[in-house]
Parts: sequence; C-alpha cells; structure tokens
Amino acid sequence: MRRNLRDARVLITGASSGIGRALALELAPYEPRLLLTARREDRLASLTQELQGLGCDRVVSVAGDITEPKIRERLISVAQQSMDGLDILINNAGAGAYGPFANASSDRLHQLMEINFFAAVELTRSALPILYEGRTPLIVNVGSVLGHVAVPNKSEYCASKFALHGFSDALRCELAEEGVDVLLVSPSTTSSEFFERLVDQDGDPQVNRFSMTPEAVARKTIAAMKSGRREVVLSWGGKLLVLLDRIAPSLMSWILSRGNQEAQPQSSENS
Ligand SMILES: NC(=O)c1ccc[n+]([C@@H]2O[C@H](COP(=O)([O-])OP(=O)(O)OC[C@H]3O[C@@H](n4cnc5c(N)ncnc54)[C@H](OP(=O)(O)O)[C@@H]3O)[C@@H](O)[C@H]2O)c1
Repeated sequence: MRRNLRDARVLITGASSGIGRALALELAPYEPRLLLTARREDRLASLTQELQGLGCDRVVSVAGDITEPKIRERLISVAQQSMDGLDILINNAGAGAYGPFANASSDRLHQLMEINFFAAVELTRSALPILYEGRTPLIVNVGSVLGHVAVPNKSEYCASKFALHGFSDALRCELAEEGVDVLLVSPSTTSSEFFERLVDQDGDPQVNRFSMTPEAVARKTIAAMKSGRREVVLSWGGKLLVLLDRIAPSLMSWILSRGNQEAQPQSSENS
C-alpha cells in the first residue's frame, strides 16, 4: 500500500546520531509531527533546533535509555498527549560489539539483545494499541545485512539482528488483518558513530571503506516507507551477500571461515 507521509506522527528511536538523526531530517519536508528519543539530551535538543530551522516545528523529544520500561511507557504517553496518537514507529536505536564469542562475557550478549531486540519488541508491544488507531500505520525495524548473513566476531550482533528479522516477518503476518504494515530495513556498513561506540571491542573491526552515508540510508528507508515495501536491503553489496548466502550457504560459510583464519594474529610459536 502506498503511504502519504505528510503530517504523519512518527516516533524515531536512536535519533541523536547517524541513521536516526538523518531520518528525522529527511522526513522534515513532509512536515511530520516527530517524537525523538535517545539518551543524549543535548543532541536531541540541537536536532530539534535544526528541524525547526527547516520549518518542522512540531517536534518533541524524550531523553532516556530505551532498554528501560519506564522510558518506553513515557514515549507512548507523550505520543498520545503531544501528537494525539501515532502513525509510524521507527525502531532504529542500536549498538554493536566486536570480538570472538569464546572470549566474551555474557554481558556483551545481554546488552546487545536488550538494545537491538528486546527494546524494539517491547516498544512495539506498547505502541500497538495506538498504532491500530493510526493513519496507514507502519512499524519500521532497522535491522542489518547481518540479520540475513552471519559473520564471525559479531555473533551477538548477528543474533540480535536475526532475531529482529524473524520478529518482523512473524509480526507482519499477524498484523496484516489489522492494517498495520511492518518494514524491515537492512543497511550495510554506514558511516555513523556506530563503530566508535561499540559496547565491547576485542580486536580490530576493520570497517568497510565503501560505507553508505546515514542520509542515503534515510532516503532509501523513506522511499520504502512510501511505497509500502515489506523488506529492503539497501546496498548492492548487501543484496549480493544475501543472495550468495541463500544460494550457496556452504560456500559462504567457507569463505567467511577462511577470511577469519587469515585475519587471526600469528600464534606465539610463529611470532
Ligand atoms: N552503522 C552501521 O554500519 C550499521 C549497519 C547496519 C545496521 N545498522 C543499524 O542502524 C541503527 C542505527 O545505527 P547508526 O549507524 O545510526 O549508529 P549510531 O550513530 O551509533 O546511532 C545509534 C543510535 O542509537 C541510540 N542508542 C544506542 N543505545 C541506546 C540505548 N540504550 N537507549 C537509547 N538509545 C540508544 C544512540 O543514542 P544515544 O547514545 O544518545 O542513546 C544513537 O542515537 C542501529 O540499529 C544499527 O544496528 C548500522
């Protein structure tokens, strides 16, 4: 179903930087009512000012940790009070980690699942009653190519994004009758603060030089929201990886294992 974004009431999580911030700015020409959230209050305040400078003056923000139930409850009540409801929920807040699973504490897994999966799922649960009343309601889950293709040293991140992928597909079927759409957006490496703010790092993540900009991710996401897509992998490289993993999973696994072995530091006998 095609969707008119003009005047839409939109809640964006993770709006203080990167993709979330770019989504807010790229939505501005549609004169939406925006509810922005993230932990860094100063960033939300400067984004609100920037949006006002673009003529988008119906913006409210709530600062806080999205993994806390109280913040999620507050977001829903602010959506009702300040925007009189909600049309679009964008679950974008997320974080990464890098390093072998075997060396990591269970805390790394729990943190990533809390931010990338449970927070998005529980915010969705709380938002559903008001989304049912919304205009062409939509839930946008920002996943990752790594929610389709699993790679070494990002096991916890892949697990969280595969979980979000599965949840999105199941929910889409459940909500079809209610008229609520679910869009899964899967960016490839994006030049944001993401790699500077990993929750844990053991080794060098060697960030892909051919990354997308947050603005490009936001523009493609908005195009998918307007055209009623159910799922979108945003880059050609990402599409190729997903296709290769589907048609030749053993080959893909072999390539990734070899790459990982070659990237290992030399053993002490050789060094
Ligand atoms: N960058 C990439 O290469 C890439 C690739 C594929 C998918 N993605 C996904 O894209 C989404 C956005 O990432 P990005 O690249 O824009 O990274 P980013 O610049 O680091 O932005 C992450 C956003 O999430 C917020 N956030 C993180 N933990 C939070 C928490 N506990 N509570 C509330 N907000 C929290 C951050 O705000 P505060 O720190 O102010 O709270 C920030 O606004 C994530 O879901 C990520 O997994 C990124």
